[in-house]
Amino acid sequence: MSTTRGRLDERLHQFEELRAKTHMWDAVIDEVDGRRIRVGDHWLVDWASCNYLGFDLDAEIIEAVVTTVREWGTHPGWSRMLGSPRLYPEIEEQLTELLQAPDTLVLPTISQIHLAVIPVLAGQGTVLIERLAHKTIYDGCVHARALGATLHRFHTGDLNELEDQLRAAVNGPRMVCMDGVNSMTGDVPDLAAYIRLCREYDATLYVDDAHGFGVIGERRPDETSPYGSRGNSIVRHRGETYDHVILVGGFSKSYSSLLAFLALPTPLKDLLKVAAPTYLYSGPSPNASLASVLAGLRVNADRGDGLRGELYRLTRRVLDHVRSLGVVTLNHDDTPIIELPIAEDESLVDVSHELWRRELFVTLAPYPGVPKDKVGFRIQVTAAHTDEHVDRLIDAITDLAAAGTLRRIV
Ligand SMILES: Cc1ncc(COP(=O)(O)O)c(C=O)c1O
Repeated sequence: MSTTRGRLDERLHQFEELRAKTHMWDAVIDEVDGRRIRVGDHWLVDWASCNYLGFDLDAEIIEAVVTTVREWGTHPGWSRMLGSPRLYPEIEEQLTELLQAPDTLVLPTISQIHLAVIPVLAGQGTVLIERLAHKTIYDGCVHARALGATLHRFHTGDLNELEDQLRAAVNGPRMVCMDGVNSMTGDVPDLAAYIRLCREYDATLYVDDAHGFGVIGERRPDETSPYGSRGNSIVRHRGETYDHVILVGGFSKSYSSLLAFLALPTPLKDLLKVAAPTYLYSGPSPNASLASVLAGLRVNADRGDGLRGELYRLTRRVLDHVRSLGVVTLNHDDTPIIELPIAEDESLVDVSHELWRRELFVTLAPYPGVPKDKVGFRIQVTAAHTDEHVDRLIDAITDLAAAGTLRRIV
């Protein structure tokens, strides 16, 4: 207890220090204008949102939200167990078709899904979690452990270690939990290799593709970029089926809305309707969110591949530049999440001041949120950025690299 409190106090101290010394921590945004934001009297280009497809600013989606809220009011007010506006089954039907999944269930957030679903799937069995998996997956696994499951961690990409752990897990269900597109590195895992192992050992692969859904999708000859088509997530991107796979994703990144989903077999969906507290007891997503998801699905079908083509083009402009400078980025797969670690003796606070001066708003990645050699900042590209925004960003990266601020490839 006291160690936990001690760790929390240390975090609080670091948090307060960052808030006191930089503008890019716990900021209050006063105004939005396209992909620019105002903090106080300072306008900046926003490189910190995950609105990858630019749906937050899309006129067609905004109009649809207004119309739906007029029709349905602001909020459903019932838990899903009591009743769901027709908007819910419409979303689930369209999503099932988009993902080419056996069935889907939508709930307000991914965090709630992990907490509710991982313990149900794990039972008294074994949960194996990837070390780099998102904290909210870890929280779901810890909850499963508290309810009787055994929990082990494996190193990201180490399939031999994972196979040893699967072989050793002889009691009860086996489950492997991991990120799809990694939220910090942007890497796209070789899902087919994990799926092969899970099928061999009759384990369930549970994948959180919060950042892949909407960005990557099925490969097709007419695709507009290597992201693939339709943005229907990592399982389809890797040409896989949902046999032994539960996919989790959310609308809070690419679709700029508050809703999340599971792609799952129908019997499991029925079971979760009696076993998942968030289906039974949580408040639902607001009607504005349901409307923006439905309109987003329509826009995705009509214009999504064009937007993904543009997203890829802008992302490659940034990444090609970074790579030409010989500085390190954690991104190897050209997704729009670009983390740039800073040199060992540089101060993240000073870097944030320089980016602020250049009117660039980014996500800071301080220690202990990331390991010491990964401390730096993260840029998220969206289809609503412009070439002029990218010009400004790459000028800043050039100067930071020339000043020795960014970590170099050795
Ligand atoms: C990989 C991943 N999973 C889960 C979450 C949390 O999603 P939600 O806000 O829907 O709980 C995030 C949010 O950033 C994420 O990056």
